[in-house]
Amino acid sequence: MIYPNYPTTRLRRLRENPRLRDMLSETKLSVSDLILPLFVKESISQKQPIHSMPGHFQLTLTDLAKEAEEIHHLGIPGVILFGIPAHKDASGSAAYQTDNVISRAIEEIKRVTPDLLIIVDLCCCEYTDHGHCGILAKQQGRWTVDNDKTLKLLAKQAIQHAHAGADIIAPSGMIDGMISILRCALDEAGYTHVPLLSYAAKYASSFYGPFRQAAESIPQMGDRRGYQMNPANGAEALREVTLDLQEGADILMVKPAGVYLDVIYRIKQRYPEVPLAAYQVSGEFAMIKAAAEQGWINESAVMLESLTAIKRAGAQFILTYFAKDAACCLSEVLARG
Ligand code: PBG
Repeated sequence: MIYPNYPTTRLRRLRENPRLRDMLSETKLSVSDLILPLFVKESISQKQPIHSMPGHFQLTLTDLAKEAEEIHHLGIPGVILFGIPAHKDASGSAAYQTDNVISRAIEEIKRVTPDLLIIVDLCCCEYTDHGHCGILAKQQGRWTVDNDKTLKLLAKQAIQHAHAGADIIAPSGMIDGMISILRCALDEAGYTHVPLLSYAAKYASSFYGPFRQAAESIPQMGDRRGYQMNPANGAEALREVTLDLQEGADILMVKPAGVYLDVIYRIKQRYPEVPLAAYQVSGEFAMIKAAAEQGWINESAVMLESLTAIKRAGAQFILTYFAKDAACCLSEVLARG
């Protein structure tokens, strides 16, 4: 010591001992915080690898049952389902037909693992031939998604998903008024018990690239900036979530997660009492995987750090393609104690 009587607060005293460090960890990531996204495709007889998302596949209904069992076994509480129908059309009619790919997927999962929580993504883009999240209409010479016509279709879809047994419905289309229309439609049809997880602050992000290949939902023309949020806006996310809460959203979500931690934090500060989720999207996953494959980063360390940061910012649970890898890592950590 240069000045022997000078009292120094030594924060390092709390960092040296691994047990103490662990005990004092403010954010604890657990397998029960994780939801795994799954893609189910109708017209295939064998699962197809998604090249930009190593370890992920477009699944058949048969694979889905195996997958569900594995997920359940790992202690992951639930999945979010995306369906890819055999036929797409301008209004995405496959989404609300009885016996559609999602209804059959729900039935299959419930048969093998009735306890697994099933969230269904509610959107038109996987079902429309043009790849947009609703019905297209021309407005002043420009194609746009017709808000109110799309709402009617979403209501039909939601009822079909609830009828099939979805535990939670997650509308992701960023169509204005979708939460109130869906709440009314579900309540009227007798599904008052089905919660709505709103993709409340969903950005027009370039991080969705691999997903759009996986879900075969690349917009055939234009982009989604006419309905998804501008990445430059943070305060607007508060308007979005306030409206969704007024309309009856049960859970809010921010998407993507890693580069929108400020948005997660702001929403948590404004509405600490409302459950908040975040979606670590396909591009976030793919970047970590690709860098790890090159040997440039340590995959599991970066994965756990990124998930912990999302939770630290204020997300209560995380939708992530890393759910299975993280579950394995977390149980190894527990076993090592
Ligand atoms: C559907 C939807 C998308 C994602 C989730 N739901 C794609 C999009 O908005 O284009 C993206 C998820 C990901 O990138 O992992 N609207």
